[in-house]
Amino acid sequence: MNELWSNGRDMPLFLAPMAGITDWVFRLLCEEQGADIATTEMISAQGLVTAKKANNAYRLLARRAPFEKPLLVQLFGADPYWIGEAARAVSAAGRFAGIDLNMGCPARKVTGSGSGSALMRDERLAGRIIHAAVAAGGLPVSVKMRLGWDEEHENAVTLARIAESEGASFVTVHGRTTVQQYSGQADWEKIALVRRAVSIPVVANGDIAGGESAREALRATGCAGLAVGRAALGDPWVFSRIRAGLQGQEMAAPTLSERLQMARRHAYLMRISRDERTALLEMRKFFAWYIKGVPGAASVRARITTAADFEEVDACLRELEDRRGDEQ
Ligand SMILES: Cc1cc2nc3c(=O)[nH]c(=O)nc-3n(C[C@H](O)[C@H](O)[C@H](O)COP(=O)(O)O)c2cc1C
Repeated sequence: MNELWSNGRDMPLFLAPMAGITDWVFRLLCEEQGADIATTEMISAQGLVTAKKANNAYRLLARRAPFEKPLLVQLFGADPYWIGEAARAVSAAGRFAGIDLNMGCPARKVTGSGSGSALMRDERLAGRIIHAAVAAGGLPVSVKMRLGWDEEHENAVTLARIAESEGASFVTVHGRTTVQQYSGQADWEKIALVRRAVSIPVVANGDIAGGESAREALRATGCAGLAVGRAALGDPWVFSRIRAGLQGQEMAAPTLSERLQMARRHAYLMRISRDERTALLEMRKFFAWYIKGVPGAASVRARITTAADFEEVDACLRELEDRRGDEQ
């Protein structure tokens, strides 16, 4: 794998793009725990280019902290023209390692306009889109896809071949179909079929949640990298546990006080990167993830969801900590 993409690692660990989640704050926390490369949330190619400069939300999504590791910008869209223009803009910004093309999002508001995983149903257009991003020059391009639209139309092998022939640097495959959304199990054996079909690197994605599943996914797919999404929610340490697992070591899960410490730091970074109200609203789900599975957390979680400010949240966290303190 090209040095730029792998960040110099033999088996790079990617933080998978997650809309509403993978802003610079979350990326930073995951990178500190061992994620090698991250991707922005998906950004509309046309929006990135055309939205008014003064309040261009898309530019905000593409914000990168100067101390971050290599960052890919994920674009979605169904028009090769806008993809090309957006790729040029991202390249000109000079702060990004590459462009990732979203061909895997199953959300109807994305597929309805022919973007995301709808592109897997139109291989010709998908090829033109990859071509446009590559032809824009400047940055390496990757494609993130699913196995196919549904069980009868699993064409990840074909799409990966198209990506390779259009000049993509690597592909990431989530081992589910669009129709499956997030149900069932990711099928790593089918990712292996893609891996065998192309000579560009293939990154495996889906249900990798710790050292053991990472080893299993690697054994099943033989992939060149692993991408982790949901397992990192409330648990950025998953990357260090995976890295340890790949080296045949076991690493203990974080303690409650480590989790709460991470939650507080996450909140602090949120508060310096947004206005107070937005930070509070956005942090709610993260707080819930940080205390997931902690006995007695349910009532605290409910109170956090309605907390009026961060002081109230902190009181809830302290209460949880005090209650559980003896058991740490
Ligand atoms: C809340 C959420 C938001 C997501 N947003 C994106 C996105 O913007 N672009 C994308 O390609 N995939 C997106 N995904 C899919 C993930 O990148 C990943 O492919 C999927 O969650 C499977 O990996 P996992 O089992 O490790 O979570 C999203 C997933 C979740 C749960």
